[in-house]
Amino acid sequence: MKIPFHRAYLSTEEINSVTEVIKSGWLTMGEKTFEFEKSFSDYVGASHSIAVNSCTAALHLALKSLNIGPGDEVILPAMTFVATWEVITYLKAKPVLCDVNKDTFLIEAKEIEKKITKNTKAIICVHYGGLPCDMDSILDLASKNNIHVIEDAAHALPATYKTKKIGTISKITCFSFYATKTITTGEGGMITTEDSEISERIKRLRLHGITKDAWNRYSEKGTWVYDVSEPGYKYNMTDIAAAIGIEQLKKCDLMNSMRQKIAQKYTSAFAGNPLLELWKVDNPAGCSWHLYPIKLNIKNLKIDRDEFIEKLKFAGIGTSVHYIPIYRFTIYKDSDLWPEFFHGCEDIFSREVSLPIYPGMSEEETQFVIDTVMDILNKNKK
Ligand SMILES: Cc1ncc(COP(=O)(O)O)c(C=O)c1O
Repeated sequence: MKIPFHRAYLSTEEINSVTEVIKSGWLTMGEKTFEFEKSFSDYVGASHSIAVNSCTAALHLALKSLNIGPGDEVILPAMTFVATWEVITYLKAKPVLCDVNKDTFLIEAKEIEKKITKNTKAIICVHYGGLPCDMDSILDLASKNNIHVIEDAAHALPATYKTKKIGTISKITCFSFYATKTITTGEGGMITTEDSEISERIKRLRLHGITKDAWNRYSEKGTWVYDVSEPGYKYNMTDIAAAIGIEQLKKCDLMNSMRQKIAQKYTSAFAGNPLLELWKVDNPAGCSWHLYPIKLNIKNLKIDRDEFIEKLKFAGIGTSVHYIPIYRFTIYKDSDLWPEFFHGCEDIFSREVSLPIYPGMSEEETQFVIDTVMDILNKNKK
């Protein structure tokens, strides 16, 4: 049996929707993109949704819209994808890496507080795997220190913090529709905000800084006249991508319930096994389960994490590691950020493996992953 790490859940609805756009003769940002934005706002309950071509673009525009620039510091977890880090450097601001909780893999207010200086302007919190950070304590700390909060919700559609859907909590939230994410448009992203001024600015910035109707300049209703109020970027979504997104969003709850079931099956099979540790998820129903990470109990095993991954690969099962902490990359080779300052990240990185979890995975495939994981662990216990 071959089980890839991810397989997108796409069907005739997406194909028909894209075909309709192609037949319409208008392929880039237009009516379909705005329809997707409207459906997204309705789905998460946000006042404004702005579609872009990636979550990386969304995070960049979020920082830009808050006027983050040279000399400013932005705190982020070291346990994230490099995109969360790189957007800060686009604006010549300084990324400040923060450790995460070794059990939840999330950034927490008490660690963030240690990193705050007079130059701190923003915190980017990452809802790792779709598990929401403790937003009340982070927002409280941020407001006491006059710092902006941006949520990197690349994994967190749909996820719920207390009673609120992610996308409605802090000033700006950024989602990803990358090929492996919980809904996909191939490449794509969305920004949600409650602030109409920020929304208007981001809408201009995503399309060269030109006035908001410029996308319409080739249509009958449009005009060739437009203005540029500040330099922008080419970050708009296309109608082809939006057509896929609209159909994916309709299936978002269904796909979520399918991932929930796989997560439950994994958890009941692995719980209490001394050869591994589970990710600590206090409210499984509020987690989007974009990832299913486990930590191996290396001290009880004859193999390390990398050998475990190789054995799974040999058995036909694709896995991944989330993440290589940012301070381990060459970009930090000359810095004084040593792994021993990041106990949580190091504990996770040395032992973590992400197992396949996606809507199209059958019960049989899930069981095969469980059996293979158990078999490799049992054969290699000390
Ligand atoms: C936590 C996190 N943030 C941001 C991104 C960037 O998303 P995108 O590929 O849509 O730019 C990713 C993508 O994997 C991610 O995992």
